[in-house]
Amino acid sequence: MKHIKIIDLLNNTKTLQEVTAKGWVRTFRNNQFIALNDGSTIHNIQCVVDFENTSDDILKRITTGAAICVKGTLVESQGAGQKVEIQVTSLEILGDSDAEKFPMQPKRHSLEFLRENAHLRVRTNVFGAIMRVRSVLSFAVHQYFQQKGFVYVNTPIITGSDAEGAGEMFQVTALPLDGSAPKNEDGSINYKEDFFGKQTNLTVSGQLEGETFAMALGQIYTFGPTFRAENSNTSRHLAEFWMIEPEVAFNDLADNMDLAEDFIKYVIKYAVDNCADDLKFLDERFAQEEKQKPQAERSEMTLLEKLNFVLENNFKRVSYTEAIDILKDSTPNKKKKFQYLIEEWGADLQSEHERFLVEKHFKCPVILFDYPAKIKAFYMRLNEDGKTVRAMDILFPGIGEIVGGSQREERYDVLVEKMKALGIDEEELWWYLDTRRFGSAVHSGFGLGFERLVLFVTGMTNIRDVIPFPRTPQNAEF
Ligand code: 4AD
Ligand code: MG
Repeated sequence: MKHIKIIDLLNNTKTLQEVTAKGWVRTFRNNQFIALNDGSTIHNIQCVVDFENTSDDILKRITTGAAICVKGTLVESQGAGQKVEIQVTSLEILGDSDAEKFPMQPKRHSLEFLRENAHLRVRTNVFGAIMRVRSVLSFAVHQYFQQKGFVYVNTPIITGSDAEGAGEMFQVTALPLDGSAPKNEDGSINYKEDFFGKQTNLTVSGQLEGETFAMALGQIYTFGPTFRAENSNTSRHLAEFWMIEPEVAFNDLADNMDLAEDFIKYVIKYAVDNCADDLKFLDERFAQEEKQKPQAERSEMTLLEKLNFVLENNFKRVSYTEAIDILKDSTPNKKKKFQYLIEEWGADLQSEHERFLVEKHFKCPVILFDYPAKIKAFYMRLNEDGKTVRAMDILFPGIGEIVGGSQREERYDVLVEKMKALGIDEEELWWYLDTRRFGSAVHSGFGLGFERLVLFVTGMTNIRDVIPFPRTPQNAEF
């Protein structure tokens, strides 16, 4: 008999049928009650073992972590909190699990411990829920853009360009590492002779390639892994993360903001509607975590309230210049405690400034736009004032920057001049400049850090806990 997923068994209204279920034992109580989980849902199904007619050898092997197959009758459950359970008629151990050695004991583990066991942590309720929500959010991303007629583009992972110009790239060595690679006179590797004939990196962003496709297909999006060799050991940065980058021909900055806000609301709503059980569980977990914090630091809203708040309110659109004025006004010198917030026009905003604006001042998601040109990337459209660019960052409560985007500089001459000033090689980016040579047009796009979105939706606080196998400095175990 084919086995049935536990989520389908639990939603089943027809009892008294013969069923087969397969999964992993979470707990085994009183030699009788198995809590079985197969990953299809946060909920376990209770399997009641007829221990008098089951051999001691089998009973001993029903341990936490073991893979089993049960056959039996689906009956109404007497226990609280579950509608049905399986009265087991036969039970097979598919894979034993040594109870002494299995790291995922049925108790609360610290997140640090679980991170060290990324291959097994997904067997816990928390990580099962997070990974299902992540999967549903991925689907929602594609659904949103596909419904709107965007073309999904796979931009290269190995690339010769540094889209963000920040130099935080992982180099790809397509050369033997045994010392036999061709060298320059100074001993450095001679990339001219390597597999690609030039130095290549793992991509930091698919934007530049995405732009070339937008200038032909109109509306495109990418959704793929991106890599940053920034040595920032924070709870918001990963060395390998997933980014969604839409790019739209003929969109200006205001259109770009509209698209980003509509998109974010759509995917969050999709998760709220389609991950009810997992989000209810994560909501309860969030409440427990908040209780551990001092009163003053606790969230005023539950996780689900936070999600609904984002859905129901417009993001506040504020120019960089207005934001600086707010920061200055909020920091009278007398009040020492806010002194650090004072910023001068032209400075890049630090995360404490962003958090102040979002969490203390506006208390809602904020779209900051028109940043000083000198703190933003070369490809952003220069404003008429000659000193700001049509950039936008979306800041989220508890997360900080979740989106970075802009209207792009479509004027060939202005772009070339900017590249010259920044020392960016025109010849390297000849193909990018072609978009401005042939049929250039106003266009805009943005990048949403997928893990930051998953962080927000799941109420987790460390980005390492929302990606299956986190890549961070000093962490490449898996
Ligand atoms: O602001 P960023 O660097 O923008 C770009 O890469 C543009 N090319 C996007 C575009 O316009 N098409 O990165 C975009 C987003 C950030 O807002 C953040 O959410 C996320 O990517 N991000 C990271 N997420 C996790 N770990 C990191 N190290 C990240 N760096 C950026
Ligand atoms: Mg950014």
